[in-house]
Amino acid sequence: MSDIFNPKTERFDRALIKSMSEYKDLVAEFDNDYEGTWAKFADEKIDWFKPYDKVLDESNAPFYKWFSGGEMNVAHQCVDRHLESKKDKTAILFEGDNGDKKTLTYGELAVEVNKTANMFKNQFDIKKGDRVVVYMPMITEAAVVMLACAKIGAIHSIVFGGFSAEALRDRIIDAQAKLVVTADGAFRKGKPYMLKPVVDQALKHGCDCVQNVCVVERNGEEITWVEGRDKSYNELIKNESTSCEPEPMESEEPLFLLYTSGSTGKPKGVQHSSAGYILWAQMTMEWVFDIQDDDTYWCTADIGWITGHTYIVYGPLAAGATTVMFEGVPTFPDAGRCWKMVEEYKINQFYTAPTAIRLLHKMGENEPDKYDLSSLRILGTVGEPIDPPAWKWYYEKIGGSNCSIVDTYWQTETGGHVISPLPAATPIKPACATFPLPGISAEVIEEDGTPTEVGEKGFMCITKPWPSMIRNIWNDSERFKTSYFGDCKKDGKPVYFSGDGAMIDEDGYITITGRTDDVINVSGHRMGTAEVEAAIKKHDKVAAVAVVGKPHEIKGEGIFAYIVLKDANDASEDLKVEINKVIKAEIGAIALCDAMAFVPDLPKTRSGKIMRRILRSIVKGEAITQDTSTLEDPSIVGVIEGIVKL
Ligand code: WTA
Repeated sequence: MSDIFNPKTERFDRALIKSMSEYKDLVAEFDNDYEGTWAKFADEKIDWFKPYDKVLDESNAPFYKWFSGGEMNVAHQCVDRHLESKKDKTAILFEGDNGDKKTLTYGELAVEVNKTANMFKNQFDIKKGDRVVVYMPMITEAAVVMLACAKIGAIHSIVFGGFSAEALRDRIIDAQAKLVVTADGAFRKGKPYMLKPVVDQALKHGCDCVQNVCVVERNGEEITWVEGRDKSYNELIKNESTSCEPEPMESEEPLFLLYTSGSTGKPKGVQHSSAGYILWAQMTMEWVFDIQDDDTYWCTADIGWITGHTYIVYGPLAAGATTVMFEGVPTFPDAGRCWKMVEEYKINQFYTAPTAIRLLHKMGENEPDKYDLSSLRILGTVGEPIDPPAWKWYYEKIGGSNCSIVDTYWQTETGGHVISPLPAATPIKPACATFPLPGISAEVIEEDGTPTEVGEKGFMCITKPWPSMIRNIWNDSERFKTSYFGDCKKDGKPVYFSGDGAMIDEDGYITITGRTDDVINVSGHRMGTAEVEAAIKKHDKVAAVAVVGKPHEIKGEGIFAYIVLKDANDASEDLKVEINKVIKAEIGAIALCDAMAFVPDLPKTRSGKIMRRILRSIVKGEAITQDTSTLEDPSIVGVIEGIVKL
């Protein structure tokens, strides 16, 4: 793509990295003294209780340690340390689904966090290292609960509110959570919806580890209270003290777990550290979003995903910013909701997913014209590749051709952005993540570490450890090594492989080409094919199944299932509905199949391996280029093609 857009640098005159030459200088500084440069930022940004002994400990690679021996506390870093200068500054600006508004200043947030932290200790006996599962809507209490855990050193594991009871149970059991924090429910599109009944269902069996459920009362709908187990947050909080000393946390002590899908097996509990994670959350907030003291920043993600963790709560608050939390959906009451909020709050940075951009574009091409969007300076996108038409609409209609678009590439595992334009420095190309951030050794390579040729697809790897990287998979160190450090090497040493493909163009710009494994990216949400297939197999009429991603106009990818029935005569539209019900119960509505095809068999090699690539080609209507002669039954390919075309 030849279009290059140069940001208007006068709009970013306070940016920390002001030009490509400053960017290059910083990259060179890291190249010359990697640990020393990281140490410089760690010393400048983190309010250490006790200095660290070692910047980077590689002795037990890939279990890297950063800033070991140091002590700090993430809640102190995000809230308490700001109290002297920002006590009355708005920390969180909340807007409810129905337009309700509420603000919490840094002073008020500190009080709420302390009371909640005391409640966790006193009422639920939560101690450092205990796991707390959070199944909550987008309300301020969710952020307070995260920070309260951080304050006392409890490890939170947030489960997205769209996951089913089964999915919630799996995560509770894997983390051996002692406490579940939830809400009765919340509001969406003008109506109440419920969360507590899902928790009740999840806890029906196998969750002996859970001693209590703490319920925030949000929508006031009737719920069942289990005597002795369930407690009202709203009641208990009243009596707690407003002061709480932060628990000193060694740099590497875990801050949180967040379960995410991989190519095989069950979701993995990605474990993040305290110091390294928060350092990069804060630095990227400052570099990529050019956050200034008078800015109002809005990220539309949900706290159930990593984007909500790093860029609604931890990053903005560590940077002392004003962050918006929105309970509702961008399309209610109409497709102008976001633009109305941008106008009203004078939002300076707006961060969302390509799926939302495509949807809002489709629903209201000219809707943005009704609102004054001139406060916007930076538009962010994340979660999936953005297509050039959506990018252009975002740039022109929302940004008035006057904003920098930061196409931020990163993952649950990277903790924060790894490849992204810098608003004042990087000339941007549509739908292109551009360059690695300073300090991040993101490289597009072959499996043996050879850099790929211009225009050729390669593996998106990060060849040096970085402070905010995943530390482990909860309960599964072996899987951590094989999932991320098993595929690619550089100079003979295993390096982190993201699971994504990428390409470098003639100007050195990096474009992410998408997953190279069996992960489907539905509306920017990662779905593992193995998980969806396991859910479908629970239906007793199903003999075998393979799911693949199918390009989708709004969602980027939708889920398409090839299903072999035990009895072919059972095939019907009703059965498809039934199968989707099973998926909803096992995983949640986000994993529903867009379409299914009942087929007599799957294309398998003689050793029984399903040839997914053939299935992907068929659903895209592409010519089959793979060699089908090694299949157990080569004729099945034509049969399946015929069925899918119908
Ligand atoms: C994809 C979300 C293209 C990628 C922060 C990655 C992207 C997965 C981009 C991680 C982007 C994320 N361009 N693809 N700007 N950002 N991805 O863990 O496939 O939910 O591996 O983290 O989203 O998804 P996750």
